[in-house]
Amino acid sequence: MTTVSRQWVLKARPTGMVGPEHFELREETLPEPGDGELLVRTLLLSLDPANRAWMAPTPTYKAPVMPGDVMHGFALGEVVRSNAAGFAPGDLVDGMIGWRNHAVVPAADMVRRDRRHRPEHLMGVLGVTGLTAYFGLLDIGQPKSGETVLVSAAAGAVGSIVGQIAKLKGCRVVGTAGGSEKCAWLTREMGFDAAVDYKAGNVRRALREACPDGVDVYFDNAGGEVLNVALFLMNTRGRIVCCGNVSQYNAETIAPGPAAVPGLLVVKRLRMEGFIVLDYEDRRAEAEAVLAGWLADGSLKSAEDIVEGLDQAPAALAGLFAGRNRGKLLIRVA
Ligand SMILES: NC(=O)c1ccc[n+]([C@@H]2O[C@H](COP(=O)([O-])OP(=O)(O)OC[C@H]3O[C@@H](n4cnc5c(N)ncnc54)[C@H](OP(=O)(O)O)[C@@H]3O)[C@@H](O)[C@H]2O)c1
Repeated sequence: MTTVSRQWVLKARPTGMVGPEHFELREETLPEPGDGELLVRTLLLSLDPANRAWMAPTPTYKAPVMPGDVMHGFALGEVVRSNAAGFAPGDLVDGMIGWRNHAVVPAADMVRRDRRHRPEHLMGVLGVTGLTAYFGLLDIGQPKSGETVLVSAAAGAVGSIVGQIAKLKGCRVVGTAGGSEKCAWLTREMGFDAAVDYKAGNVRRALREACPDGVDVYFDNAGGEVLNVALFLMNTRGRIVCCGNVSQYNAETIAPGPAAVPGLLVVKRLRMEGFIVLDYEDRRAEAEAVLAGWLADGSLKSAEDIVEGLDQAPAALAGLFAGRNRGKLLIRVA
């Protein structure tokens, strides 16, 4: 039986803000899965700030997407036909399936997921998002009860989970987000102690007021202005977790690094450390078990922002950089 795959292809590399004009819809008739391959049907496609970084010509932690390639994307799929030992139709798998509704993929590149969990959770709090928050905060940030944790892009996928885990660890939690509605959501619904609208101006003063005892752990999703300000608010022996740099992913020229580096790192004995969640693959089961436990007993809330239809993917990615999402942005493909 032939399968036709609808897929978004990178038409041209963006130089500034990414938009629908950089993608093109294409259809392709797929071959039968070869030895060790699977035919998968995409259920949920993850949209991530990193998608924009992968569109640039320079490699990140993975090779760039080339013009003419199917857009790279992490997704959850269901096995339709299997030509690989250990996989059967109906299995749920995740991996780099790409922006398409069907794909033939090597089984070795896919991870089988547990059907007992909701698909939205597998792609959010029990997926890359949750693992990033868990290992970044606990392993790199090492928060202690009573400390102040500041997190940027706090109303987003990773940020909203970081803030909740920090609360579970007994910390005072402050987030930054774009707009008063998102800030109100953080304090009313997600348990943050304070939230600062970084788009409202005078971020320095607002953050100083929101963090009267300074900051012990800054979980940095954004880089840019909030990082500049946070460096001045850090307490001695504070930790800055470099998770991402979303304020710069669409910049035509990268802004210069903060003037306070390295001076304040020295004076305050700060540790500033980056990480990539993929490095924690061998501890994935540990984090998934803890996160699933918190979800089940109600101490962790999952926030998902689901857009219907593969056709919406390019516009939804542009929306992510306009701050339209709240929680984990997903495309429901099937
Ligand atoms: N190190 C790792 O292994 C790893 C893994 C996953 C993700 N990450 C990083 O984690 C960060 C958050 O990712 P996510 O998946 O959770 O995305 P997300 O926070 O759900 O979405 C991105 C958010 O960033 C904010 N934003 C967009 N443009 C911005 C700008 N110019 N300046 C400041 N904020 C901006 C927007 O929120 P506002 O409306 O509030 O501005 C938007 O909702 C990203 O930097 C990502 O690259 C790292």
